[in-house]
Amino acid sequence: MKLSLLANAGLLGLAAALLGREPPGHEYLRLPWYSRSPCPGLNVMANHGWLPRSGRDIDLASLQHAVVGAFNYAPHAFDGAFQAAIDFNLSTTGNPSTIHLADLAKHDAIEFDGSLSRNDYALGDNLHFDPAIWHTVAQYLGLYRTGPSKADKYVTVETAARARAQRVRDAMRANPHFNASTNEMFGSPGTTALYLTTLWDDKADAAPKAWIRAFFEEERIPYREGYKAPQTQRGNDTINAMFARVTAVPVSVKSRAVRLPLH
Ligand code: HEM
Ligand SMILES: *[C@@H]1O[C@H](CO)[C@@H](O)[C@H](O)[C@H]1NC(C)=O
Ligand SMILES: *[C@@H]1O[C@H](CO)[C@@H](O)[C@H](O)[C@H]1NC(C)=O
Ligand SMILES: *[C@@H]1O[C@H](CO)[C@@H](O)[C@H](O)[C@H]1NC(C)=O
Repeated sequence: MKLSLLANAGLLGLAAALLGREPPGHEYLRLPWYSRSPCPGLNVMANHGWLPRSGRDIDLASLQHAVVGAFNYAPHAFDGAFQAAIDFNLSTTGNPSTIHLADLAKHDAIEFDGSLSRNDYALGDNLHFDPAIWHTVAQYLGLYRTGPSKADKYVTVETAARARAQRVRDAMRANPHFNASTNEMFGSPGTTALYLTTLWDDKADAAPKAWIRAFFEEERIPYREGYKAPQTQRGNDTINAMFARVTAVPVSVKSRAVRLPLH
């Protein structure tokens, strides 16, 4: 599963281009010198050229353009998240109104412990995809269990909410420095709501496992697996409704039922 970055960029990018289901100019390409973030959502948009592929010098207007083109989100839906990055003084671009994607890795600003696909800051690398950590989450999500039934193909809100809580429990056990800050405790269901909303199949009322795998494991928009941006724009209301569903699922690790303003 741990492909080298270059092999990944070359082979998968080429395969995707040949299959031809990606919008022209938005083929999947990863190169090791591009700036990337702890956020798979931003990374996938950069890997498909919806955001500047370099991941550098990103301003609010380019983010607004990207979220519409990639996922048909309302253009302003992520203004608050972008502004948070600016307000936390994360920018290292020399221009106070732009960011490099890697700037977002600063711990305890927007980045927090107990992520689904990244390690905790105190334990090592909080920026890059971590296959071992993701493997635990993927097991909780049943991602590798495939078959013909609906349950084999999709992840429900209930499964995703429990998987998230289990990951936080694991992180708290593994990391003696786990910060139990408010951000962490409600940012976590927030990001679960965010990937579900982004990859939601309205007809199935669930998210296809194949789409979740592409999004996290390859930071790729799952065009090849049939993803199309939804016809009806999704926005704050859609994300909030999903957040309410995620936090309504009873789990052992408590999180406050307040939506993270960042996402
Ligand atoms: C389409 C828009 C977006 C989507 C779908 C998205 C999705 C996600 C997801 C699923 C995670 C959790 C990753 C994990 O737990 O392993 C995450 C984390 C993160 N996102 Fe986003 N995001 C989006 C936009 C943004 C924006 C606009 C910003 C800030 C400018 C941002 C900053 C972050 C950061 C810093 C993290 C790391 C949090 C952590 O430590 O887990 N995201 N995002
Ligand atoms: C959604 O929330 C953001 C804050 O994150 C805000 O700036 C924006 O105006 C809101 N409304 C819409 C329609 O996106
Ligand atoms: C960011 O910088 C400004 C100006 O120097 C300062 O007033 C503010 O407190 C800083 N914010 C954070 C979160 O450090
Ligand atoms: C979280 O932990 C980091 C070190 O791992 C520390 O720098 C930071 O101050 C902590 N934050 C809180 C809110 O405890």
